[in-house]
Amino acid sequence: MVRKLALALVLTLSTSLALAGTPADAASSGAPGGGTPGAPGIGDPYYPLDGNGGYDVQHYDLGIRYAPATHALAGVVQIRAEATQRLSAFNLDLDGLTIRSITVDGRPAKWSRSGTEVTVTPGRTLGFGRLFATRIVYDGVPKVIRDPNLGDGGAFTTDDGVVILGEPWVARAWFPSNDHPSDKASYSIALTVPRGLQAISNGVPAGRSTARGWTTWRWEQREPMATYLAMAAIGKYDVTAYRKNGIQFLDAIDPAIPADTYARIAKSFAREPEILRFLSGYFGPYPFRAAGGVVDADGEWGFALENQGRPIYTPQDFATQEDGDSVVVHELAHQWYGDSLAQERWRGIWLNEGFASYAEWLWSEHEGLGTVQQKFEELYATPATDSLWQSKVADPGAPNLFSRAVYSRGAMTLHALRLTVGDPAFFRILRSWAQLHRNGNVTTEEFVALAERISGRDLDGLFTAWLYTPSKPAHP
Ligand code: TRP
Ligand code: ZN
Repeated sequence: MVRKLALALVLTLSTSLALAGTPADAASSGAPGGGTPGAPGIGDPYYPLDGNGGYDVQHYDLGIRYAPATHALAGVVQIRAEATQRLSAFNLDLDGLTIRSITVDGRPAKWSRSGTEVTVTPGRTLGFGRLFATRIVYDGVPKVIRDPNLGDGGAFTTDDGVVILGEPWVARAWFPSNDHPSDKASYSIALTVPRGLQAISNGVPAGRSTARGWTTWRWEQREPMATYLAMAAIGKYDVTAYRKNGIQFLDAIDPAIPADTYARIAKSFAREPEILRFLSGYFGPYPFRAAGGVVDADGEWGFALENQGRPIYTPQDFATQEDGDSVVVHELAHQWYGDSLAQERWRGIWLNEGFASYAEWLWSEHEGLGTVQQKFEELYATPATDSLWQSKVADPGAPNLFSRAVYSRGAMTLHALRLTVGDPAFFRILRSWAQLHRNGNVTTEEFVALAERISGRDLDGLFTAWLYTPSKPAHP
């Protein structure tokens, strides 16, 4: 989904032209109606084949059935998109699974597969600005995509179901998509599971129905969402749902979790409204209708993840509570920085992790568990030879997305900015950043420009030292 106003205007104009019946251009690629194929990647240098060119998704309609006994998934996905060029063919990303049929606007399309790329060739070229619907029917056993540097993502089978999550690669393991955070879209998600199991996903619950031993759970994610933030948790959960401060909360905790850990999770989750209120005080209004969290007794993936409106945690994240709910604070802070403001390119990952880590420091100070300044000084004392200082935080390299520098030095960068521009300007920057780019995509360059505009200072030296230089910066 494109959020830039000017571009939206151009597209609207061109849509009406296309609808008014612009004559087909002379064929340049041999496809009926001409046009050219969309690029197989969206243009992210870290992961060149992630996402695709030539179209912009507006809405995903996922209809997915999952049978825990066989781990088999069967999907019918409809993708509503807008062509951003005269499009003779376009790609989707899908890793594994078997495609049974593809139609575009109800007419059969040809397709071919190579690696994670599916190339769809509609019967005729899609005009520039044209809205079109692609329907894919597919099935198979969804996989876990393993990466030694980035960790695992995909469908993790559990004792009674499956948990589907990951970053950066998960969507392609369970539905065809334009798999890159720069193409956000809204979602309708219907998960069909054997009666007696629950199926949790993003957004607000939109009803459920049971027929012939299967229950379909419907979820509506109306605010645009990056593909990697779409999730599913299928199994038995204790669900707590309530409305507070205009937000629909829904928490799901696996009853198989040992009682002491379970109690700590329930206690942390009960603080979600309070944590959101605290964070809103700095970042502005919570960006979504829905909030909550999911914990499964499994947790093989080994991380918490900021799935939109409904992060997923492992029981290990709550092993102790000495850090005062900091993992929940981290994932909830991501709802602003990471989810509402998503990556335009993955190299900007510090805009997610540095900000979420800084939110943990703010909460720590609020809870009397150590001040922000103390957190900063502890890290600053790290010897100059440490890997913390050998990294370019705003361009850490494809294998290092989740390196410690991205989190810790990312947060330190924000504190260095705060010490440089002073509290009033700093907190105005944080808040304006979240408000200006709400439900959009962001880059480091945009953040630097905003910080300079609000503070009225040239911050090149500061950001060059903290974000782009692989050595220890001077103490701010
Ligand atoms: N973004 C997550 C966090 O900081 C961490 C993460 C990275 C992750 N890769 C993952 C979580 C893969 C789950 C799966 O909160
Ligand atoms: Zn994070």
